[in-house]
Amino acid sequence: MTSTEHPSLTAQTTHPVGGDSTPGPWPDVSAKHRPGHDRMDKTDWDNRHADDDRRWAGEPCPFVVSEVATLPKGRALDLACGQGRHAVWLAERGWDVTAVDFSTVGLEKARSLAASRGATCVWVAADLLRYQPERDAYGLVMLTYLHVPVPERRAILNMAAQATAPGGTFLLIGHDRSNLEHGYGGPHNPAVLYTGPEIVADLPDLVVERAERVERPVQTPEGTRVAFDVVVRATRPI
Ligand SMILES: C[S@@+](CC[C@H](N)C(=O)[O-])C[C@H]1O[C@@H](n2cnc3c(N)ncnc32)[C@H](O)[C@@H]1O
Repeated sequence: MTSTEHPSLTAQTTHPVGGDSTPGPWPDVSAKHRPGHDRMDKTDWDNRHADDDRRWAGEPCPFVVSEVATLPKGRALDLACGQGRHAVWLAERGWDVTAVDFSTVGLEKARSLAASRGATCVWVAADLLRYQPERDAYGLVMLTYLHVPVPERRAILNMAAQATAPGGTFLLIGHDRSNLEHGYGGPHNPAVLYTGPEIVADLPDLVVERAERVERPVQTPEGTRVAFDVVVRATRPI
């Protein structure tokens, strides 16, 4: 993959880039974002997933692990599931998981991961801008490291909020905007980054329980670095 093929990602590393033993989903990047190239489409993501054979792909984000630990198990919807690390982790813990992504290459890897671990999920190939999940249906709706331009983000968050069951949990984890200047890895395109308050403003129908910037240690060949993430957890009123 080259910077020409993926304008918002400019250099690829094969090294793990996550916290503790859990890497993040984006490579470290060294060059700057090129204005006008805000969006990665299905082909971009198919190429990215095809190139990406990082061994950490099966490990969940530590914030997913801690936020989901105490939730009652039920139906879960993993939006932009990528290579399925969270969907499979949830299924292994007794959740009834539907996982959605528009990258068929990512979904193939997700299916392989599930098969290798004996986990069962429903995999859906769909663009989240058109996907219409069952409303009021999921005890957990989750988005991790989905970074799209603001109008798309708002539409997707609205869809996700509507899919959350009354009393259910909405969970978003992503790269905080401050990561661009001060943190490790992540997109170098400010147009697709956000902060906790921006996400909260996009969720008028939910009750926000947590919205904050958190630090995620990242093991790199040069030593431990820090990435700045956003964690937003909210519930749908009954
Ligand atoms: C950085 S990856 C994160 C994957 C996964 N959530 C994780 O944490 O490992 C972002 C994912 O979003 C997906 N994606 C981006 N825009 C999308 C859209 N409009 N519809 C469906 N999937 C999308 C990409 O295909 C990619 O798999």
